[in-house]
Amino acid sequence: MTLQFSLASAAPETVDSPCVVVGVYENGLLTSAAARIDGAAGGVIKRQVESGDINGKAGSVTILFAPEGVSAKRVLVVGLGAQKSFDAARFQKVNIEAARALGKLPLDNAASWLTELDVPGHDAAWRVRTAALAADYAAYRYTATVKPRDQGKPALTTLAFAAADDAHVGLDQARGIAEGVRFARELANLPPNICTPAYIAEQAQAFADAHDKVSCRVLDHLEMEKLGFGSLLAVGRGSVNKPKLIALEYRGGAESDKPYAFVGKGITFDTGGISLKPGPGMDEMKFDMGGAAGVLGGFVSAVKMGLPLNLVCVVPSAENMPDGDSYRPGDVLTSLSGQTIEVLNTDAEGRLILCDALTWTAQTFQPVSIIDAATLTGACVIALGKHASGLMSKHDDLAAELLAAGETTLDRAWRLPLWDDYQVQLESGFADMANIGGKSAGAITAGCFLSRFTDGQRWAHLDIAGTAWDEGRKGGSTGRPVALLAQWLIDRAGA
Ligand code: BES
Ligand code: MN
Ligand code: ZN
Repeated sequence: MTLQFSLASAAPETVDSPCVVVGVYENGLLTSAAARIDGAAGGVIKRQVESGDINGKAGSVTILFAPEGVSAKRVLVVGLGAQKSFDAARFQKVNIEAARALGKLPLDNAASWLTELDVPGHDAAWRVRTAALAADYAAYRYTATVKPRDQGKPALTTLAFAAADDAHVGLDQARGIAEGVRFARELANLPPNICTPAYIAEQAQAFADAHDKVSCRVLDHLEMEKLGFGSLLAVGRGSVNKPKLIALEYRGGAESDKPYAFVGKGITFDTGGISLKPGPGMDEMKFDMGGAAGVLGGFVSAVKMGLPLNLVCVVPSAENMPDGDSYRPGDVLTSLSGQTIEVLNTDAEGRLILCDALTWTAQTFQPVSIIDAATLTGACVIALGKHASGLMSKHDDLAAELLAAGETTLDRAWRLPLWDDYQVQLESGFADMANIGGKSAGAITAGCFLSRFTDGQRWAHLDIAGTAWDEGRKGGSTGRPVALLAQWLIDRAGA
């Protein structure tokens, strides 16, 4: 369950809440809400600023307990950094840190005045939405296969944000997007012995069963064999967890409107296959269905927001395993499009399941546009690191729309070129193309490979290999690019 959100219109010093949250800039400059608390409580904040206990460093937190003259039992003072450089990214950061601090306290609700901060270029609805999503991000706990650490303590369930009533659209959107982000994070965090292709199909079917206007279709490997999914099926052949093609449809628009289409890479575990990956860190390849989780999350967001448009979400899902029946380097596959592919590395499997899914999506739905998301290449992580997703498209207008949606939601992407110059790297003497393009520009040649299956489509590709999860023992799915996709759809629905 996501957090519950509301708007607060009381004054910070009189609001009836177990905790009120206010901000202080660097050098002890109080925000107006902090100044009101300070005035009502006899200078309690200013004294701590003077003593140096509160320094206003971005993301720092100080808890004042039972200050006299204030209705709330606690005041959480959050450092905002320098006011001059306060921007959207900092706003998100301080809201996440505030929610983390609230999560450690024994309370189930709080009221935040951080939404009154001035953020250049953004209105109150954006502030409320961003603060709500930041809080829900911090509040999420994975508990499917591990007990929560802080059992017994009341958990934060409800947050109010200071804002006028007209900011409510921001909250409405936050509720929908938060559901999508949680859906994606939970699915991606599940271990690969639970989250198999069949499991993803069941989750999609369950979502369709629970929502009007949503239907689900699943093709199994036998049906795909009849239809000619030669590339997708080769990838899954070494696993007992057989491949599935999952298609969700949402009809929120007019009957005659063409749908928008999402396609997401759903490799539930990527060992590399016969071109086996090295051991260290291989467990992280359970996140190789992050693209599937991301597009499903985007789909969930659209449905929860009730956007007036039609949308399809297609997930090719398989497990890439070494086995006596695995596909091998040297194999030539015939894709659903009829084009042949020489496999030079069985670890470049994502593009092999996506190409057939892209062909099928275009044929089946004649969509307005297709956006795919995939944890496709290590090369993209080398190029852009963990902050930006790689965006590739031959359509400048579509690319601009997606970049803008990423900026708005701070779920940012950065464009890489898809020039034909790179296509020669995919040439093969034994098939129409090879599945790898050599050492240089690995993210781009992967995009070039996919581009050969999207002829005539308005298509964009998001490589989320660096952004879909945080590394390490306590890392986990980030839910990216759900917010970007949801914002892009909001913009389409408004246009
Ligand atoms: N799932 C991986 C890409 C990946 C690697 C994502 C590391 C996140 C972190 C993908 O299937 C893969 O193995 N790609 C290969 C392609 C290569 C063989 C051309 C890669 O990036 O090494
Ligand atoms: Mn791989
Ligand atoms: Zn992979």
